[in-house]
Amino acid sequence: MKKSYLVALGLAVSAILPFVGCDKNKEVVIGGVAPLTGEAATFGVSTKNGYDLAVAEWNAKGGVLGKQVKLVFADDKGDPAEGATVYTKLIEQDKACAIVGTVMSKVSLAGAPICQAAKIPMIATASTNPKVTGVGNFVFRACFIDPFQGTVGAKFAFDDLKAKKAACLFDVGNDYTKGLSEFFKTKFTALGGEIVGFEGHATGTSDFKAQLTKVLAAKPDVLYVSDYYSDVAIIAKQARELGFKGPLVGGDGWDSPKLVEIAGPAVEGCFFTNHYAKEDKAPIVQDFVKKYTAKYNAAPDALAALAYDATNIMLDAINRAGSTDGTAIQGALVKTDLKVVTGQVKFDGDRNPVKSAVIIELKGGQQVYKTTVAP
Ligand code: PHE
Repeated sequence: MKKSYLVALGLAVSAILPFVGCDKNKEVVIGGVAPLTGEAATFGVSTKNGYDLAVAEWNAKGGVLGKQVKLVFADDKGDPAEGATVYTKLIEQDKACAIVGTVMSKVSLAGAPICQAAKIPMIATASTNPKVTGVGNFVFRACFIDPFQGTVGAKFAFDDLKAKKAACLFDVGNDYTKGLSEFFKTKFTALGGEIVGFEGHATGTSDFKAQLTKVLAAKPDVLYVSDYYSDVAIIAKQARELGFKGPLVGGDGWDSPKLVEIAGPAVEGCFFTNHYAKEDKAPIVQDFVKKYTAKYNAAPDALAALAYDATNIMLDAINRAGSTDGTAIQGALVKTDLKVVTGQVKFDGDRNPVKSAVIIELKGGQQVYKTTVAP
């Protein structure tokens, strides 16, 4: 009796085992992280779409290393603690050999030390704060960094908008928004402009009137708001209620269809710096816009483009590495020289790509491409 059970068990195990092993060996598993819920949920939707489109294309062409690619997605909820949990899970439980993501700098800063310690390469898609890749040599990003983005915004405000006085508003609990306002301030001052207000607010607040009243009293020509779209929309409305008529200028955190939806006319005639413009005539951009729109029935924003690019950069590196070993992939990533939707990617010594920025105007309730600024 006992014996026959053991035989049956043995047969069952030997029948299952090859499949388990086989499935694993047939796939290359990578992790993908983005905020699908929380204060910046539209960032996560676009980012996940970008990952999935790139992976589907590689798989249709035969995958990488002769295997299909499986992207395990995790929602970081826009929260650093949640970010740390999901990066750990992707590495330890899902055995991801590499990770793409995430979006928000404050969350990438929580994931980066985990990847670095595990020697698992990561490419943050849209995290522009310089500290992110500073964590270590396994941490890369697909986007430009905020010293450049802040400079572009300041030059645009000073040269194009002819602003002499500017005031900055930012989230004190967010490395990205605080850093970006500081970089703007440095450049605007260096150009000969004057920063007449520099006010932080707490994360999660919805009343900005105290800060706005204070900075508007100094009569700025321009308000530089380096927040994410959800805060920008409220700040814009409250600034208009308080009588401010000038333009608001900001960074990539403005990129969401929700901004105009919530703020309406309050953001009309305002400007922000971003990573790409869907109007760009380059064939690689138009090809991406066409494929993305066909699949998701929505135009791709910068988050989608950067997620698509990060995935392509990572899969290209895995292919060139000829292996799923983290150190081998890291070595291949360093040598990246790839044309992607948001530009030509080559990493500098700090694992940041050197890329152009675009300026977008909000006009007639639409995002309108204005100009491209090279580094
Ligand atoms: N740059 C932002 C950050 O670092 C994230 C972001 C990128 C948001 C692009 C919107 C568009 O936190």
